[in-house]
Amino acid sequence: MNKQKILKPTASNVHRAAKIIKRGGVVAFPTETVYGLGADAFNEKAVCRIFEVKKRPSFDPLIVHVASMREAVLLWSSVPDAAKVLMQKFWPGPLSIVLPKSSRVPDVVTSGLETVAVRMPAHPVALELIRKAGCPIAAPSANLFGYTSPTAALSVAEDLGDKIDAVLDGGPSTVGLESTVVKIEGGKIYLLRPGGVSVEAIEKALRLKVKRSVGKTKLESPGQMESHYAPQAPLVLMGEKSDAFIKKLQRLQNAWRKKGGQWPKIACISYSGKKAKGLFCAELVLSPKRDLYQAASRLFQGIRKLDRMRPVLMIASPFPMQNIGLAINDRLQKASAGKRGWKQFMLSFPKALIGNQT
Ligand code: TXA
Ligand code: MG
Repeated sequence: MNKQKILKPTASNVHRAAKIIKRGGVVAFPTETVYGLGADAFNEKAVCRIFEVKKRPSFDPLIVHVASMREAVLLWSSVPDAAKVLMQKFWPGPLSIVLPKSSRVPDVVTSGLETVAVRMPAHPVALELIRKAGCPIAAPSANLFGYTSPTAALSVAEDLGDKIDAVLDGGPSTVGLESTVVKIEGGKIYLLRPGGVSVEAIEKALRLKVKRSVGKTKLESPGQMESHYAPQAPLVLMGEKSDAFIKKLQRLQNAWRKKGGQWPKIACISYSGKKAKGLFCAELVLSPKRDLYQAASRLFQGIRKLDRMRPVLMIASPFPMQNIGLAINDRLQKASAGKRGWKQFMLSFPKALIGNQT
């Protein structure tokens, strides 16, 4: 990508980026969760360009970003009290709220759905950009569809290169994974995607149980598609029995070494501790002090870093299912190639060596 398109977030550059958006361009910008690829939410042509650039299927709706609650309210047809509580408590911040849309929101933004997801990001550059553009900004994560979301300007440049008009560089995203998406319907609240705001915090604020899925259709929130956020190397998420999994790999390595073979490159992502010496070409420990928020903030950059080493396999240990751990596991699950990835890996060994270990 032309380096001149990566803009330091000075007042004049934010102004320049806002002008590009006003004229129907697409600009990547920092948020506290991940970088977004933004266009004027009221400009259908510009919104279509987002889908083209990302190679995103047209059935996957976008989140609209606003700089105030007042602006959000204009995008919905009605606002229940629960939404007001959530906005007051968690905005600006990593929470997207899905409610029936007002007629101002074009169908391309919502992929024809009658609802729209709205959030106010907690990043000064994002808020300034929205204010200066003078319109709400529709933005998905600024990566190619299906790939790991970017948490740094350089990652956006790597993925989308010359296809976009500019990237505002606001430094690394502090939360590091996407917003929580909730839908409010009939007095109930549904979790469509776990993310930066924990379910526990939402339940505390509303004094209401959050339902884990809408149930009607799996594609209610297309981010729930099974394969998403995936690196190029097949990723295998070890289950609860990760020790047994490691032992199995070690047995395989020993047998392989006896034959004088070169052990393939396997990269490992773990929460707080080293897994096994000599087994991995690289091991990324996300939070030695076992802080789930720190782990989340390092997850996507870590996956990208390991992926650049071109391992034949990436393995990850599961994280505790509490607070943001729910979102970390969700992303790993969707990035994982599961059984298929493991099978692909095992096929790289001669049959005589591995016997029936698949
Ligand atoms: O943190 C984030 O949410 C980032 C930053 C840039 O704000 N954005 C982001 O956008 O992750 P994207 O497009 O990668 O994911 C949006 C998710 C998708 O899973 C989409 O299906 C869901 O939100 N979504 C959007 N509008 C929806 C709607 N009306 N109903 C249900 N789900 C919706
Ligand atoms: Mg995305």
